[in-house]
Amino acid sequence: MNRILIIHGPNLNLLGSREPEIYGCDTLDEVNTYIRNTTAEYGVDLDFFQSNHEGAVIDRLHAARTEVNGVVINPAAFTHYSLALRDAIAAVGLPTVEVHLSDIHQREDFRRVSVIEPVCLLQIAGHRKDSYVYGVEALLGHAVVEQFAGEAASLAGTDARLRRAVQLLHERFPKFDWTGIYLLEGEELRLHNFIGAPSPHTRIPVGQGICGAAVAEEATIIVPDVNADPRYLACSVETRSEIVVPIYSEDRIVGEIDIDSHRPDAFHEHDRWYLERMADQLGRHFNFEEIVWDD
Ligand code: SME
Repeated sequence: MNRILIIHGPNLNLLGSREPEIYGCDTLDEVNTYIRNTTAEYGVDLDFFQSNHEGAVIDRLHAARTEVNGVVINPAAFTHYSLALRDAIAAVGLPTVEVHLSDIHQREDFRRVSVIEPVCLLQIAGHRKDSYVYGVEALLGHAVVEQFAGEAASLAGTDARLRRAVQLLHERFPKFDWTGIYLLEGEELRLHNFIGAPSPHTRIPVGQGICGAAVAEEATIIVPDVNADPRYLACSVETRSEIVVPIYSEDRIVGEIDIDSHRPDAFHEHDRWYLERMADQLGRHFNFEEIVWDD
């Protein structure tokens, strides 16, 4: 994933002056500069395109087929009725994320339906200009999962797969300051492998910490501010936010992916989306007998 096309649909050329209470005060150029600057750390080339014309958007998508590895599209009003755009996204076959500045589900009824969503990996709405940044991150996370899935069969067993997943995720996302996997041994989580500062929490009882809570609740937990969560067990004083994603094998939790960030509020629904897909990959062919412990 080294080249991504960002498409803005109709009326987005008027950003800054068009209903700023809904769409924000930034102009389209300012939004594009923000997306470029905020995603610069990923080292991905971005192309930007805006049109008010359905056919022009479709032509750009067709041309992109051989030029880019993924698309982030804000289809604007086309979202709700353009079957031609939907067919174009499906025909081109590039991984595509649908984004919206506003939360289309909290507005008029006609905006709740997206005919584009079924041919996209994911819909991200309501984060203003960050919706595009999250769209780029979703494509990068998707590419990591695809790479892992492609390599998985040739990796030597469960232990190697768990280590490779941590390595790929940690390398791709600079906001991941500590990336690790805990495995469930009886009623205790045991640290299997990690990249980042050594953690004092190499064993965590189920029910304790954010990690233990995720097992007890059988759910992914996102903590935007670890200092405001009484459950949090500190690994590093620099940690500001955390996400914990359970790994299931044959409907049982066998472990979890744990990621800490020094950035506040670093994790959102799109991070949950690709990390749960990674957890799903890790749960396949999971064999506890193949685990090698470092300590
Ligand atoms: N913060 C985790 C403990 C693990 S360290 O972050 C690596 C928790 O609260 O469970």
